[in-house]
Amino acid sequence: MTHRLLITGASRGLGRAVALNFAAQGAELHLLGRDEGLLATVAEEVAAAGGKAKVHPASVTDRVALRAVSERIPGLDGVVAAAGISGVTPVDSELSNVDDAFDEILQTDLTGCWNTVRAFAPKLGVGGRIVLVSSVLGRFGVPGYGAYCAAKHGLLGLTKALALELIPKGIYVNAVAPGWVDTAMAQTGIRAMAQSMDISLEEARRRAEEVVPVQRFFQPEEITRGIAWLLDPANTMQVGQCLNLDGGVLHV
Ligand SMILES: NC(=O)c1ccc[n+]([C@@H]2O[C@H](COP(=O)([O-])OP(=O)(O)OC[C@H]3O[C@@H](n4cnc5c(N)ncnc54)[C@H](OP(=O)(O)O)[C@@H]3O)[C@@H](O)[C@H]2O)c1
Repeated sequence: MTHRLLITGASRGLGRAVALNFAAQGAELHLLGRDEGLLATVAEEVAAAGGKAKVHPASVTDRVALRAVSERIPGLDGVVAAAGISGVTPVDSELSNVDDAFDEILQTDLTGCWNTVRAFAPKLGVGGRIVLVSSVLGRFGVPGYGAYCAAKHGLLGLTKALALELIPKGIYVNAVAPGWVDTAMAQTGIRAMAQSMDISLEEARRRAEEVVPVQRFFQPEEITRGIAWLLDPANTMQVGQCLNLDGGVLHV
């Protein structure tokens, strides 16, 4: 069992669900995100569920801040890099802020994971585990999502390289590729889809669910099961792998 876990993007959504899952097992959690108030609320939820939590307000884009957080942590058994942002970045957009959005998504979703591993891998001993949260959009392209797809595809390359680099130290690096997860990010995605197709939110959601073989979105708690499996010290098979958690969107 992973006892000491650092989670980025812990203030809500998937990261929060990972924290609460491990809280119930009495874990010591380090919660990292930018919103200190939300992190404090999750820390209270962790305590109520039987775990311990310290909050670390910081951006994964800020290497200096991450190093400072790392210096305050004596040791870790696992790291889950769930921090991420999404957004549409159409290549033919006339808006100059699309370039800024492209940079921000890459900085957060790809470089942010690199920064996270750089800062916290030194805190892991033999048997340590790192899970990077990619996406099904790290497996295939979606028009208008160039930045997000590039970041999430890049993350899988990063996973493979870091896995081979760190396994000699006994550290296991893997990734997960969730499909639609019912969080704020998915709701924003559905809103963007509804707007671009000029359809209602309900219809956009219906169309999104329709392309998932199991015909539904997943709850963050369901995704945590796959992440927990990759964090399990008994699991020594997975090295540099990406676990698809998507209800059959990607299939062999
Ligand atoms: N929802 C989906 O359908 C879906 C599907 C596949 C993959 N994913 C991936 O799953 C991960 C979690 O997403 P979610 O659905 O839980 O989204 P969410 O509800 O929007 O949560 C995103 C989390 O990332 C944190 N974050 C964003 N930018 C950050 C930064 N610069 N530094 C530190 N933390 C930052 C946010 O906290 P603060 O705002 O407090 O910083 C928040 O805790 C992301 O990597 C996402 O790409 C999501």
